[in-house]
Amino acid sequence: MPSSNIIVALDYPTMESALALSSQLDPSRCRVKVGKELFTRSGPQVVEKLVSQGFDVFLDLKYHDIPNTVAKACLAAADLGVWMMNVHTLGGQKMMVSAKEAVANHSNTPILIGVTLLTSMDQQTFEQIGLTGSISDTVLKLAQLADDSGLDGVVCSAQEASQLRQIHGEDFQLITPGIRPANSAHGDQHRTMTPKQAIDAGSSYLVIGRPITEAEDPMKALDAIEKSLK
Ligand code: C5P
Repeated sequence: MPSSNIIVALDYPTMESALALSSQLDPSRCRVKVGKELFTRSGPQVVEKLVSQGFDVFLDLKYHDIPNTVAKACLAAADLGVWMMNVHTLGGQKMMVSAKEAVANHSNTPILIGVTLLTSMDQQTFEQIGLTGSISDTVLKLAQLADDSGLDGVVCSAQEASQLRQIHGEDFQLITPGIRPANSAHGDQHRTMTPKQAIDAGSSYLVIGRPITEAEDPMKALDAIEKSLK
């Protein structure tokens, strides 16, 4: 079982390209994330292949539906052997509780994470869909609801990590994307933190895509990130 807190985002359009990258990674040194594009194109097979290669797989499908449907989708993901999965906290407490209950007694109990507000949401979009108040207060409220519903943690920006860590304690998992090693290209990410800054702020796991997947030597990039954390 890997002990790494680095999750490599396999943001690829095909199973072949995702597996070409995973074959260059050591499953004892990182975990991997499968998102909507790869899953929609490749289906459960890509998850099964990665699991059989020894990877812990974070299935990032952000389920959001009626409680019964989300519970069954979570059960199906647990049956696939995923290590971590997520649901939208905006689905409400009953949906989150149902999701947790569906996987809690599974032989492979996955870590169940909530998505609060997407970091792509700005104030205008927030108000357009009828929400009021501030984005930051809403993130705190939804994280509290996730905790109260028995979820294991939330996806959050590393900028929010220290406050959430203080409120929710050591056992609450904080999964943070938007990570950029010093001197690496930011791409479309705006408020980034380095791996070390994010861990120091309280992140449990770092989701890192392009700084590793677009590196000439992905293991070397991973190695440099590990060293920066020591
Ligand atoms: O390549 P990069 O490191 O920017 O990839 C970050 C990964 O984290 C992508 O899979 C992206 O979809 C995901 N993510 C994010 N910001 C969020 C939630 C997820 O960047 N708020």
